[in-house]
Amino acid sequence: MIENNVEQFTKLIPQKTDLVGFASMAESFQRLMTYYRCAIMEVETKFRVLDVQLSLNSENNPIETIKTRLKRPESIAAKIQRRGLPFTLEAIENNLFDIAGVRVICSFPEDIYRLADSLLRQDDVTLIERKDYIQNPKPNGYRSLHLIIEIPIFLQNEKRMMKVEVQLRTIAMDFWASLEHKLRYKKDIRNVEHYDQISQKLKACAEMSATLDSQMEAIRNQIEGI
Ligand code: GTP
Ligand code: MG
Repeated sequence: MIENNVEQFTKLIPQKTDLVGFASMAESFQRLMTYYRCAIMEVETKFRVLDVQLSLNSENNPIETIKTRLKRPESIAAKIQRRGLPFTLEAIENNLFDIAGVRVICSFPEDIYRLADSLLRQDDVTLIERKDYIQNPKPNGYRSLHLIIEIPIFLQNEKRMMKVEVQLRTIAMDFWASLEHKLRYKKDIRNVEHYDQISQKLKACAEMSATLDSQMEAIRNQIEGI
């Protein structure tokens, strides 16, 4: 895994640096990625704790699944290049806030806000950015709550602040987003005939799944007498 990362990193060095300089840059990059991995573990644990605690009040766990991912070196390089930034560790850390990603799949929309509020009330969590694509879906129909947060990780001799992107969605929102992503990336659908019609159909599916979410939530609330 580590060897594979270093190998990928090798391809990203823009100009020939001397061997010592290269080795030290590769090592620093690897270290930074390890810090992001630690930040992912911290945030995942926070959600697991909230899931256990919130499930004490009702019979159900609000979290269905948690998926985590570390952005691949090629994707980091591509984004840095796209933004016209230099390929330095400072530029990566100060500009890319989605290197560490935690996706929390919930059963019901209300659980999303309950979890997000509980997370943001914790005194070691700082909110950097919040995008509510549930209240304000994207024009294509995409729904999720996105948070960029900063949390500390505690290392041997220092405390380091790390940014993590958190996406909270329901099973239905995740189902739609996964399939839409697959369709969009399988083929560049912008060049497909009837692109507008396809977009309309996808958007209609997103709206149907939102209706499903609110109806399922209404049933849950009826059952639990909320
Ligand atoms: P980037 O981080 O450069 O993508 O721009 P941004 O910060 O404006 O992105 P935003 O916070 O809106 O979304 C970032 C992530 O949300 C993406 O990497 C996807 O995981 C997810 N996402 C956003 N929009 C869509 C969408 O239309 N469809 C799907 N399937 N996923 C989306
Ligand atoms: Mg982003």
